[in-house]
Amino acid sequence: MSVKHSIILGIESSCDDTSAAILVGNNIVSNCIANQKIHQKYGGVVPELASRAHQENMIPVVKEALRIAKVSLNDLDAIACTRGPGLMGSLVVGVSFSKSLALSLGIPLIEVNHMKAHILSHFIDNENKPSPKFPFVCLTVSGGHTQLVKIDSPYEMAVIGTTIDDAAGEAFDKAAKMLGIDYPGGPKLDKYAALGDPHKFKFSKPKVSELDFSFSGLKTSILYKLRDWKKEDANFIENNFNDLCASIRYTIVDILMSKLEAASKKTGIKEIAIAGGVSANSELRLRLQEKQKDGWNVHIPKFEYCTDNAAMVAIAGKFSFDKKNFSNQRMSADPRLPW
Ligand code: KG4
Ligand code: ZN
Repeated sequence: MSVKHSIILGIESSCDDTSAAILVGNNIVSNCIANQKIHQKYGGVVPELASRAHQENMIPVVKEALRIAKVSLNDLDAIACTRGPGLMGSLVVGVSFSKSLALSLGIPLIEVNHMKAHILSHFIDNENKPSPKFPFVCLTVSGGHTQLVKIDSPYEMAVIGTTIDDAAGEAFDKAAKMLGIDYPGGPKLDKYAALGDPHKFKFSKPKVSELDFSFSGLKTSILYKLRDWKKEDANFIENNFNDLCASIRYTIVDILMSKLEAASKKTGIKEIAIAGGVSANSELRLRLQEKQKDGWNVHIPKFEYCTDNAAMVAIAGKFSFDKKNFSNQRMSADPRLPW
């Protein structure tokens, strides 16, 4: 007799990606994402435009996720949605949609913490690779967050280090902007960096307490150095473009790796994972893989689970579903949702 697996619809709308995914058991059978191109011409996410685009995209994205999964609304056992952290207007769209749909179908509603979901994406079954063993340390690096988290179980996570100013993704995006790369610059800078010399230029590294991060000093260092170099050569950026990208990427990744090494040393844990948008960075992925020779057991997410997606929300929801930890209709979006 075959066991009936639970079917969960995941909804993500914390920033500028509208996403819906269907999880059957612990397997993702669809993960649809509508990116919002509208922000490109403004050089960053415009919150009001993001929430409007979520309203337009939500129903088509959910319909597409159901169609690909060959699942109907009546097959759903629960709906999991991102409650926070994120942009208020964006979160409200996903939360209100999920509340109404759960109410109309008479099924449980599950709230999910976006940052925990990034980490729990490592437990999606499809990938045919082992999930991290507990306890593990995860470097969670996105456009809004940079954290070191110690995970003792899906239900017990503690932040052991965090940024005191900018996030790593923000550092990539701001540096890219200074080089004239349009938003979001992180992935494009990563691509050009592959063609340059990472040791050509040196930028200042932060001095903060052992497990914390700071990127604002680096940002200023890049700004001032570019200004000085441009005084000597008006086309300095164009003439050294790939080397600048490579050197900036090397510096940011070096900061991330040194903090990860400090966290591993302090906790004595060699089971190491990365999560969040910046975990798509090829230099970070490479440097992490190299650490296997030092006995680290590394977990690197598939590209589609690095940046914002609903698959991670669905799997995070599944852990709450298993504990019957449901939300009621009074639950509301929380842009600063704590851990
Ligand atoms: O997790 P995410 O999709 O959204 C947030 O929750 O913030 O992360 C987006 C961030 C952006 O700052 C983007 O530039 C950065 O992740 N990012 C990258 C790469 N891909 C995405 N940064 C560096 N290299 C990449 N390949
Ligand atoms: Zn994210």
